[in-house]
Amino acid sequence: MGVNLRTKYLGLSLENPLVVSACPLTQKLDSLRRIEEAGAAAAVLPSLFEEQIEHESAELTKAHEFGTDSFAEALTYFPEQDDYRAGPDSYLEHIEKAKAAVSIPIIASLNGTSEGGWVRYAKLMENAGADALELNIYFIAATLDMTSEEVEARYLDLVSAVKDSVSIPLAVKVGPYFSSMGNMAKRLVGAGADGLVLFNRFLQPDIDLDEMETSPHLELSTRFELLKPLRWIAVLHGRVNASLALTSGLHEAADLAKALAAGADVGMVASVLYTQGIPHISKILGGLTEWMEEKEYDSVEQLRGSMSQENCPDPAAFERGNYMKALVSFTGEAI
Ligand SMILES: Cc1cc2nc3c(=O)[nH]c(=O)nc-3n(C[C@H](O)[C@H](O)[C@H](O)COP(=O)(O)O)c2cc1C
Repeated sequence: MGVNLRTKYLGLSLENPLVVSACPLTQKLDSLRRIEEAGAAAAVLPSLFEEQIEHESAELTKAHEFGTDSFAEALTYFPEQDDYRAGPDSYLEHIEKAKAAVSIPIIASLNGTSEGGWVRYAKLMENAGADALELNIYFIAATLDMTSEEVEARYLDLVSAVKDSVSIPLAVKVGPYFSSMGNMAKRLVGAGADGLVLFNRFLQPDIDLDEMETSPHLELSTRFELLKPLRWIAVLHGRVNASLALTSGLHEAADLAKALAAGADVGMVASVLYTQGIPHISKILGGLTEWMEEKEYDSVEQLRGSMSQENCPDPAAFERGNYMKALVSFTGEAI
């Protein structure tokens, strides 16, 4: 008897709990088809950024006001837009093309930090056929004058604004750096998030010592990064009325099994597809099925949340209690 991998995410009924998260692989129709063939249950498109939308409307206004010469000059201030980061209109076209190319649900992604005219793209994404929307709030409070309360209000206002403008389900992707993550999660759901995608990886700029410049830096994830979202999903499972998606560090079947046991409705992958290839999706799903058979789980439903904080034998593991235990259990010697 086979195991039942079906799950629900954002009200969408999915074949299994593995979703490809926002990355350039979902931007190309060819790789999107391969993602579907390999068995992924849904795909999130790379983000359309607030800056892209605002830039385009500002430039259009300038073009009308000053003519095409200054328009061309102004464009040079903005990074070159290749296929992957094509403008807002191409993004909407891509949603339509993606919907036509594959039959798995397509989740569009908007990435920004503040309320504004750009939010209208949420509705345009819905009209273009997106099955759901992921709002990635990637805000770095690099000013010293903003309180945590103000930062949080900004997140919540943005979620409400987007929620009000769409009727498709809304997932909100955030990082882990809140003083009270659990409370923030609860309020994001209160503001309208139908799902939480945990966690954003905030990429840190590096310093190039030869050129004495800062350099943007994108490193693929390591499996170790799984533990942070794993803890918070375990804490939130059963306590917030929203779907939970785990992103960051999910590379192998065992990682997906842990995500589900913690209480995730789906696990997401990006980095591992760059190192192992798109067919790795089917390996993860095969491995999950094997493990579930061996452990006699009939369904994802049955596995989900079995190791959440509410249900696991050692709830303190998710709190401070185990910090001391972990330190004491460390037996390494200096060489
Ligand atoms: C090349 C690349 C591009 C990405 N672009 C986006 C993006 O446009 N929007 C977004 O929300 N996340 C983006 N991400 C983050 C991934 O969706 C994912 O959350 C993150 O990489 C952690 O998952 P992983 O450990 O499976 O890679 C990108 C990741 C990679 C590797």
